[in-house]
Amino acid sequence: MMLKTTIAAFLAFAAAAATAAIIHEAECTPCEGTTGTCVVKSKVNFFAGQTGYFEFEGCDGVNPTLLLTVGRTYKFDQSDDTNWYHLLGFAYEADGAHVPVDELEPGISRGGNTCDIDASCPAPMYFRNGEYAGSYSNIPEIKNVTSNDEDFGLDAVEPLFFHPFRDWQSYGAMETYLNYDFPLAQDFFYFCHIHSGMSGRIKLIDADGNKLSAENTPELPYEYNKVAEFDEVCGTYNLTDFQPSKDNNMCPPMFICTSDGAEMSQYAKCVEAMNCHMMSSMTTNAGGGVLELFNHQMIPHHENAINMAKSFLKLHAENAVCNEVEEGAEVSWECELIPIFLDIINGQNSQIIDMKDALEQLGSTEYANCEVDFSGVVVSRNRRLHEEPAPGASESVFESGVDCQPCADTFGECEVKVKVDLMAGELGYFTVDGCSGVNPTLHLSINRTYKFDQSDKSNWYHLIGFSYFADGAHIGVDELEPGVAPGDSSCAETMSCPAPMYTMDGVYQGSYSNIPDILNISTGENDFGLDKVEPRFFHPLGDWEEYGPFVTFLNFDSNYDQDIFYFCHVHSEMTGRIKLLDANGNMLSKENKPEIPYEYNVIGNYDQTCGTFDLERF
Ligand SMILES: *[C@@H]1O[C@H](CO)[C@@H](O)[C@H](O)[C@H]1NC(C)=O
Ligand SMILES: *[C@@H]1O[C@H](CO)[C@@H](O)[C@H](O)[C@H]1NC(C)=O
Ligand SMILES: *[C@@H]1O[C@H](CO)[C@@H](O)[C@H](O)[C@H]1NC(C)=O
Ligand SMILES: *[C@@H]1O[C@H](CO)[C@@H](O)[C@H](O)[C@H]1NC(C)=O
Repeated sequence: MMLKTTIAAFLAFAAAAATAAIIHEAECTPCEGTTGTCVVKSKVNFFAGQTGYFEFEGCDGVNPTLLLTVGRTYKFDQSDDTNWYHLLGFAYEADGAHVPVDELEPGISRGGNTCDIDASCPAPMYFRNGEYAGSYSNIPEIKNVTSNDEDFGLDAVEPLFFHPFRDWQSYGAMETYLNYDFPLAQDFFYFCHIHSGMSGRIKLIDADGNKLSAENTPELPYEYNKVAEFDEVCGTYNLTDFQPSKDNNMCPPMFICTSDGAEMSQYAKCVEAMNCHMMSSMTTNAGGGVLELFNHQMIPHHENAINMAKSFLKLHAENAVCNEVEEGAEVSWECELIPIFLDIINGQNSQIIDMKDALEQLGSTEYANCEVDFSGVVVSRNRRLHEEPAPGASESVFESGVDCQPCADTFGECEVKVKVDLMAGELGYFTVDGCSGVNPTLHLSINRTYKFDQSDKSNWYHLIGFSYFADGAHIGVDELEPGVAPGDSSCAETMSCPAPMYTMDGVYQGSYSNIPDILNISTGENDFGLDKVEPRFFHPLGDWEEYGPFVTFLNFDSNYDQDIFYFCHVHSEMTGRIKLLDANGNMLSKENKPEIPYEYNVIGNYDQTCGTFDLERF
């Protein structure tokens, strides 16, 4: 994958944040003493609390109280990388959409304003890459003022904040204009559209700088997280009471082994406290039921992941820079891992909020700890992890590689319905309707069109690919592409080698063709639609379902005396074999070559019962 952007900006910010003392609710008047449109640059400080809190350039601390002039246009610039997953919203009470309470919308009025009659109330106007994404306006410099138009661009912009980090960067700067054009004598709030608990206050002021409401009403219904000293050093939240020691009986005395006399790194000390927090938080009561148990276990598990990622960013990513990478070059750890850290922090924090909501709906407490005294636990390196797998689990309950010839008794286009069985291995394995087991060996006739239908939901994150060796793209071996010849074929010269043709919602996404029923046979075309389809398999499930169905056509129209493979474009080690058949149904290669260079995961009865992988020996 080609990386189009750098991540240097984020890291510069993280370094600056490392020394800032955390203060909240400091009053701040952006662009004081100037006139005209005021640009307010927002960032998120991940180290200021569990979810992170907003900062605005030129204002002190996090969650500052913004003083905004009635009738002035403010442009909230969210182009900084830390804003990913943190679309700003505006509401009349804290947390807006989350609670839900009234947001600033064209049809919602406050304080005797009659604007709701023709939907002309003050509302934000959401921009993407310099273009307004809505049609409502109360800012004539952007667009003539409208009436009875409710679309302020939010619906077009919000879903993009859930797309992968690099996609979000590639969509261009996200900016939101706000002009509160009514002298409302009460405060309102900015909030994060994805994470609750991040709201801050906005007080309106008149042209002379006088507050329209002296009081802080409405109230902010929660307290901000307080970060204690140990957490401040680590970049974490809520670990200060969980540092392992002889006197701490909430967890075993140590998790990380150092060689004799070696000093533990600061990160390792932070990780020790993370593990202690997680372990003591995961001793929970089973009484509430399975849904409670899932949430009670997963919340501390997520908190641990978030703390691990934050702490690494804080302690070790200060000077890290992700530069543009040439296709084919090795991706640096910065480019590989920083988006993963951000994904863990932002995605799992929003999932924790959802899990807490689920617990609230169940009428259950947030935690259901049972007290387990760990003081007697002896730490030993001689753990079962080092043992040989228990005998008996050498054969999987899932059969794999079973021969299967789709549409054996018919002619013409053949539909192959693909699914993924997530329980069949660590990553899951492919299944094909009408074939038994997982990763069946497919017998496909050359010169026949096969239609691999991936409309089933289980295919999300599992785009099928085809290659001449197992795992294709993952290990940089030849895939089926217009310019890659099987055997000694001369097809590469005309870009007419067999390749899959990727369609989305019934529309072919490429220009190459070797299937005239889809598109006239091409020469010199290298685009078989993969680049348009593949990124969408990383978008949220709901988006992916809306784009689809995803169907991939394959016509292997060349004589080739070896097997080929299908594989998953996202996960390696999910490959299955394809044996090519001639017009008489005979295999072109009886032998299974090339080899698949790994064994499939073994799922025993115990893991089958649980739906898990590799738990039997534990
Ligand atoms: C915007 O308003 C101006 C002044 O009222 C008018 O001349 C112009 O035609 C309007 N533009 C559009 C696109 O409606
Ligand atoms: C800190 O974590 C503990 C254990 O998971 C939890 O009980 C407690 O509520 C948390 N404290 C805060 C302030 O979040
Ligand atoms: C496809 O091929 C047919 C038959 O050769 C030809 O008549 C037609 O114009 C071609 N279509 C396109 C879009 O090139
Ligand atoms: C596939 O079909 C085409 C057109 O009928 C034919 O020219 C070609 O020889 C066939 N290829 C093989 C490998 O059978």
